[in-house]
Amino acid sequence: MAENKVFIFDTTLRDGEQVPGCKLNTPEKIALALELESLGVDIIEAGFPISSPGDFESVEQISKVITEATVCALSRAVKKDIETAAHALKYAKRPRIHTGIGTSDYHIKSKFNATREEIIERAIQAVTWARNFTDDVEFYAEDAGRAENAYLAKVIEAVIKAGATTVNIPDTTGYCLPHQYGEKIAYLINNVSNIDKAVISCHCHNDLGLATANSIAGVMNGARQIECTINGLGERAGNTSLEEVVMILKQHKHLGLYTDVNSKGLNPLSRLVSDTMRMPVQPNKAIVGANAFSHSSGIHQDGFLKDALTYEIIDPEEVGAEQSKIVLTARSGRSALAHRFQKLGFQFNRNDIDVLYESFLKVADSKKEVKDEDLQVLANHYQPQP
Ligand code: KIV
Ligand code: ZN
Repeated sequence: MAENKVFIFDTTLRDGEQVPGCKLNTPEKIALALELESLGVDIIEAGFPISSPGDFESVEQISKVITEATVCALSRAVKKDIETAAHALKYAKRPRIHTGIGTSDYHIKSKFNATREEIIERAIQAVTWARNFTDDVEFYAEDAGRAENAYLAKVIEAVIKAGATTVNIPDTTGYCLPHQYGEKIAYLINNVSNIDKAVISCHCHNDLGLATANSIAGVMNGARQIECTINGLGERAGNTSLEEVVMILKQHKHLGLYTDVNSKGLNPLSRLVSDTMRMPVQPNKAIVGANAFSHSSGIHQDGFLKDALTYEIIDPEEVGAEQSKIVLTARSGRSALAHRFQKLGFQFNRNDIDVLYESFLKVADSKKEVKDEDLQVLANHYQPQP
């Protein structure tokens, strides 16, 4: 079954922290890293040590306290970067160096003013340098989403030969459609002769809202690592959201894939990350949004009250969320109103509810949500019909 495990590589502290305004200090990063380890993530990308002395310190300190998860540090395909990453990881029990270079023609020509062959040489060189420090080297083929598949296959074959043990296929610009990203992974599996010597990793950005879908397409086609962040934080429109991929694989067991993440920790950690990074979670966010388990329309409320499974595919307890909520609004129906009155201790019959419902709608039309205090007032003023 081990080959069906999907490794969860969390990059909240690196790609997630690239969000403007989300900068973390070292104690904050250490606290989050410990929570990520308790959640059960396999790899924690702790930072980009060459980028600043503060980031170097964070990677170094995180390496000291993390005992189970692999601690990873990012570098470009530059000797000094790689040496600095290795230095920052010197206390890590399981250090990983994550190095790489752009592989699309946009990157090769505009960013590096290089040829495809030169890029392959630099990639091999970077992996070789990194292997001097650790056996666990991940290579990222930046902008692989827009790279030509045949060329990408050559790069990947070369870096695995040089010693890369994980090959990251980033859709850096969030460009791919799920079937295209899945086909890219399948192409690499079928065209890279030594692909069985490395784990293929998905690193998808959310510019078109497809990061999670693309990552799932990746693992359905043979990738076995997903790079993701809590709340989907990350550059521009963000990265693949950790809570979404974990719950998709849990919900769709027929895929035969699993992670070691303890889903009950998802909502508490989402709140902690949101508070620490000062980045509110959108209310309609899957799994961790405030409305993820709220029901407000009459039809949904009626069905939910008869059987929660009619409108909920996940038990909120399974993801550490508060109990499902029935929100009373002008779209709510009689059954939700009767249910709430009952919870408040009132015993109204069907006729009472019919009359009360008319008054309820008048209140509901004047505000976003009808609260228990409003219902108390309605109940206190209610005169049962003779
Ligand atoms: O999006 C990307 O390509 C990256 C790499 C540095 C892995 O974040
Ligand atoms: Zn990224």
